Amino acid sequence: MQLDDLYRRVIMDHYKNPRNRGTMDADSVTINLNNPTCGDRISLQLQLEDGKVKQAKYTGEGCSISMSSASMMTEAVKGKSLDEALALADNFSSFIKGESVEFDYEDIEALSGVSKFPARIKCATLAWNALRKGIEQDN
Ligand code: FES
Repeated sequence: MQLDDLYRRVIMDHYKNPRNRGTMDADSVTINLNNPTCGDRISLQLQLEDGKVKQAKYTGEGCSISMSSASMMTEAVKGKSLDEALALADNFSSFIKGESVEFDYEDIEALSGVSKFPARIKCATLAWNALRKGIEQDN
């Protein structure tokens, strides 16, 4: 299988079988963001406890790139300290612009092709911007 095909499958898997989609009752920070150019939106809920991201859940609507990226982000960030989560968001920004970055949660690397399509970079970063906002808002 070509790497592109594999990556496409990983993206579609996260789109069709989203991880951490939904809401939670626990005390949490909620961040609502949208992409004004297309109307995609995300509502991200972060449960921040003891300096860590204990749980992350999201709802929203959008293209396969924005929603699969949200699924990947929530999966990658769970259990991370706030500093680690911010570093992850920084790494993602560099990665999505085309720098080579490795992630512990390898599914994220399936989005590497997005860097060639500037219009889609915003799609992929929507959830990560929400993550950053949520952590900064809590501090
Ligand atoms: Fe709207 Fe992708 S087309 S975020």
